[in-house]
Amino acid sequence: MRPVARAAGSPDGGADGARAFGVYVHVPFCTVRCGYCDFNTYTSSELGGGASQVAYADTALREIDLATRVLDDAGLGGRPVSTVFFGGGTPTVLPADDLARLLGESATPGASRRAPR
Ligand SMILES: C[S@@+](CC[C@H](N)C(=O)[O-])C[C@H]1O[C@@H](n2cnc3c(N)ncnc32)[C@H](O)[C@@H]1O
Ligand code: SF4
Repeated sequence: MRPVARAAGSPDGGADGARAFGVYVHVPFCTVRCGYCDFNTYTSSELGGGASQVAYADTALREIDLATRVLDDAGLGGRPVSTVFFGGGTPTVLPADDLARLLGESATPGASRRAPR
């Protein structure tokens, strides 16, 4: 996951002139690997012990949290997210609940920390 800022005046620039802020969420998993594909993606059997499809959403959520804090500390936080793009890989290999959690946290970083328990 990598926050991406677009220049003001771009097609999805904010109506008030504020720079729009888009989030790209990479899901690096596929059921099979296509021979021609250059994208950063893996089948579960290629992963070995270092990464897990099951743990991916929680790991990515921690990275969203880290990116949010880094932007806040740099004085660049608090901008509304205008788009969230899921790419891959094949994002739908993840359970719908994982995708929903990633979308919610990407669209409104910190929302889950503020939600009543
Ligand atoms: C990376 S895939 C992600 C979505 C999904 N897994 C799929 O295959 O449609 C997105 C598109 O990139 C294309 N693609 C993959 N490798 C490519 C390459 N080396 N050059 C151009 N397009 C490529 C695929 O054919 C697919 O249409
Ligand atoms: S991302 Fe798409 S094209 Fe690339 S290996 Fe996965 S299914 Fe095939």
